[in-house]
Amino acid sequence: MEKIFINGGRPLQGEVSIDGAKNAVLALLAAAILCRDTVRLDNIPNISDVSIMLHILDELGADVKRINKNCVEINTRHFHSGVVPHDLTKHFRASYYLLGALFGRFGHARVAMPGGCDLGLRPIDQHIRGFEALGAKVGFEENAVISLQSDQPMGSAIYLDMPSVGATINIMLAAVRAMGNTIIEGAAKEPHVVDLANFLNSMGADVRGAGTDNIKIRGVKELHGCEYACIPDQIEAGTYMVAAAASGGDVLVRGVIPKHMETITAKLVECGARIIEYDEALHVTAPAGLRACKIKTSYHPAFPTDMQSQFGAMLTTANGISIINEGIFDNRFRYMDQLIRMGANVKVDGKVAVIEGVKALRGAQVKCYDLRAGAAMVIAGLMAHGQTEIEDIEFIDRGYVDMVGKLRAMGAEISRRDIPEQHGLRNAG
Ligand code: EPU
Repeated sequence: MEKIFINGGRPLQGEVSIDGAKNAVLALLAAAILCRDTVRLDNIPNISDVSIMLHILDELGADVKRINKNCVEINTRHFHSGVVPHDLTKHFRASYYLLGALFGRFGHARVAMPGGCDLGLRPIDQHIRGFEALGAKVGFEENAVISLQSDQPMGSAIYLDMPSVGATINIMLAAVRAMGNTIIEGAAKEPHVVDLANFLNSMGADVRGAGTDNIKIRGVKELHGCEYACIPDQIEAGTYMVAAAASGGDVLVRGVIPKHMETITAKLVECGARIIEYDEALHVTAPAGLRACKIKTSYHPAFPTDMQSQFGAMLTTANGISIINEGIFDNRFRYMDQLIRMGANVKVDGKVAVIEGVKALRGAQVKCYDLRAGAAMVIAGLMAHGQTEIEDIEFIDRGYVDMVGKLRAMGAEISRRDIPEQHGLRNAG
């Protein structure tokens, strides 16, 4: 079992470069299915979710060529649209984009329900409603397989009950080659939704309004190949900004789109960090004692739920009482019990956490419950006195490129080692 070990208490110093956005690239990789030509995608992050998506495409008959560690070429000319089984989809949420993409290309799809981080109930009723509006006959088969079938997908008006990222992306994938016009009302506005629209338009689609709550799609018959570079990862950048601030550091976060970072930047400044904005970089410095704050996570452009855990870790030693209200998922505070093991003073009541700042955290053995909770454990380890040992770190590999190497380059005392499992001694929780 691999673990991360951190000797905390050293401010991060130096710079860090941000990789491509996980939640954008997974949609772009699925979108590559929509045309028979080769698409070349750049700024692809080398993370396990991407490897699994490429593996799925390969299994379905795509020709996948790694040009270098950040660039792939995909050709799905000889693709077959067989069942995508649970074995392949269980690893991550974005596997459900195969439904929209296969339906968009072939008019039919059979894909097992997606896996992904356990953040509470994660229904997909809005996706299903969208597919039905486009003319799909939806079936639920054995082994959790969802099937979509239509002789001719037809554009339609779709009103989402909430601005779901997944449903917006899936409907875009399904609609770009449908006959006629589609309107998604109440669409998600996240940067990765805009990135997907730009990519689809580079392939010859006609998508307008992405980034607003009303996306208009005029269906086209065919899409063609293109070259495209994925946007930088807003959440990876935010994670290193918080790590810099939480450790009292001085870090230049390079390769970002500062506009995407605004709510995160504003919240860090409210807590006492100083941030200087450049064209494609943010310079973060922070005093030793940060201030408490209030956070409510919600849909873009509000504070992102994917930054909630990292701020949760940072606020454990901020002066005063912080209140975090999780507005998106039912169950995204499980990591708090691990922070309590490190000396944090936290009370959780449903979707609200109250954090009373303590003087310092103490290193401890902790585990990751999900991807962003894993990032929170690393930040807590950087802040803590003494050694922190983090297990279940495969969650971190799902969304962060070489987090240990990047932090070590900024002066963190952090390593990753393979430790033989000692039965009965795990922090079983
Ligand atoms: N929802 C429904 N019905 C639906 C779809 C969503 O009730 O059909 C609810 C969800 O239960 C949730 C809310 O709507 O309460 C928002 O869900 P959304 O569909 O927006 O989220 P998602 O597509 O499942 C993506 C990201 C998550 C990120 C959320 C919110 C990907 C692959 N995943 O999930 O990323 O937290 O949007 O921004 O893009 C992560 O990267 O760590 C992560 C969890």
